[in-house]
Amino acid sequence: MAEFEEDRDMRNLLICDGIIVTAERSIPADLFIENEKITEIGPSLERKDAYVIDAQGKLIFPGGIDPHVHLDLPMFDTISSDDYYTGGKAAAFGGTTTLLDFVPQTQQTLKASVDVWKEKSKSRACIDYGLHMNITRLDEKILDEIPALIDQGITTLKVFMAYNGRLRLQDGEILRVMRQAAAHGMLTMLHAENGDSIELLTQEALANKNTSPEWHALTRPAWGAAEAVLRGIALAEEAAAALYIVHLNTAGGVEQLQSGRGRGVRVMGETCPAYLYFTMEHLRREDGAKWVCSPPMRSRADNQVLWQALSDGKIQSLGTDHCPFFYDGNKAILYEGKPIAIPGKELGEKDFTKIPNGLPGVGDRLPILWTFGVGQGKISAQQFVALTSTNPAKIFGLYPKKGALKVGSDADIVIWDPERTITYGVEYAQHRTDYNLFEGWELVGYPETVLLRGKIVVHKEKWMGKAGMGQFVPRIPNAEII
Ligand code: URP
Ligand code: ZN
Ligand code: ZN
Repeated sequence: MAEFEEDRDMRNLLICDGIIVTAERSIPADLFIENEKITEIGPSLERKDAYVIDAQGKLIFPGGIDPHVHLDLPMFDTISSDDYYTGGKAAAFGGTTTLLDFVPQTQQTLKASVDVWKEKSKSRACIDYGLHMNITRLDEKILDEIPALIDQGITTLKVFMAYNGRLRLQDGEILRVMRQAAAHGMLTMLHAENGDSIELLTQEALANKNTSPEWHALTRPAWGAAEAVLRGIALAEEAAAALYIVHLNTAGGVEQLQSGRGRGVRVMGETCPAYLYFTMEHLRREDGAKWVCSPPMRSRADNQVLWQALSDGKIQSLGTDHCPFFYDGNKAILYEGKPIAIPGKELGEKDFTKIPNGLPGVGDRLPILWTFGVGQGKISAQQFVALTSTNPAKIFGLYPKKGALKVGSDADIVIWDPERTITYGVEYAQHRTDYNLFEGWELVGYPETVLLRGKIVVHKEKWMGKAGMGQFVPRIPNAEII
């Protein structure tokens, strides 16, 4: 494809001769875009006044939807190092055009917390985004306020069974949130770990001077995750509520998910790329802090069960839980030519409980899943699109505006070069941090051009997006259960 001439009128675009890949099928077809929307799909389309993109040999996907990111999130004595601009840009380079971020409950009311978050995101967002509300403190007033979130375009609530004394709700409180959500067609999202055992094991580890990163995983046992998934599903069953389990990391959790779905509970699950490839051994490395996130990396056997669950359709969604921190926040990196350093993992050099929890990943998700999922025959191209775009769109009430290549859908499009081979790493990934977990991995298949509502934001190495061009996407309740 020729380089884009930036002064050309690109309001109408015709993408020719590519293979359109959706969650259902792959078909050779052209695609016409007008006023930010897909307006026609079919063979041999012709439009005299359109800017033509030749996509011969390329695959056309709906833009990726990452249902789980944390941008600009204050944690311990720092903040996650990507904001709505830098995180959105990294997402776009990796083929993702919509992000769903979490609003921390920082103000007296939920409305005020959302207003604060919307205010800081709107001028920086460079791709589209929606919001989930964290419910981390509950009283009668907060409970009553939950339905009004729908007027602010928020239909999803995240609750935590871990992070005692910080974010955790008690089971009875979670049950009340789930009932309220169910009564208004909202979806509860659950962080499933066993908070009490984590608290005890952490105290014991510190008392015994066990302070290295591997203790982050050793104090958060796998049985606790499986038990919490079981408990969460039981609460959802009791409340007749829909439930989405975030960041599944264990075989036991997958088993419980499967069992709940088998008995008709409306529960769905998400895993994240890191849990497919890495294990506790990575936390034992000298630079183990790079892998510290919650829930933690587990074993090879867990990796394999998670892969199998993606391939069998037992897990419905692949998010990233993108929540990056610098590995060494004392050393500046150059971001868009300017030096920047943000305190990061070094804060926990002497004490694993002070390592900010979280990993970079928003830009890695599609390229890594394509090479090691589709490329190695673990999932089909249809499943790839379903897991990274269409299913999150359906579950979170964005479909068919997003997550689809249909007439009337937003023209969020990835033109994917299945032949592009790269040695991946921190430079390619574009996250605003100083490391990448997949450093040096050989990838085959990568986005060539990415469009957000019909505007080209990425072409090969070139960034054509801008802060402020991303829009908040309000959602309506009663989304699909898949
Ligand atoms: O380590 C993580 N995942 N940090 C972000 C917060 C969460 O629990 O998702
Ligand atoms: Zn979580
Ligand atoms: Zn998270």
